[in-house]
Amino acid sequence: MKKLCPTADVPTGGCRRIELPDRPPLAVFNLDGRFYVTDDTCTHGDASLCDGEIDCDDGVVECPYHQGAFEIASGRPAGAPCSIPLRVYRVEVKDAAVFAAVDETEAVPCP
Ligand code: FES
Repeated sequence: MKKLCPTADVPTGGCRRIELPDRPPLAVFNLDGRFYVTDDTCTHGDASLCDGEIDCDDGVVECPYHQGAFEIASGRPAGAPCSIPLRVYRVEVKDAAVFAAVDETEAVPCP
């Protein structure tokens, strides 16, 4: 598990973009106190999902470019034109920090 950021850096209903060496950026989401980590780049184009709108009630992030959407927990596309799932990562919260299994080769399957 890789430490990404303190939980306090991601407000409720917010997102923080994390840059790690030698890999695409990650997005840490806080949905009402539950943390999720996905790739930050939309699968439809070169947009940062952390710049999008987050709907905590539906658990969805809307892409800022073409308003496609994804379920944050599963990465499943939730609105056109997005059709390719977003990669999601196993998450642990400990010592007031968010950790993610960013080195796992297998993607977490959609629940
Ligand atoms: S780049 Fe995200 S919906 Fe087009």
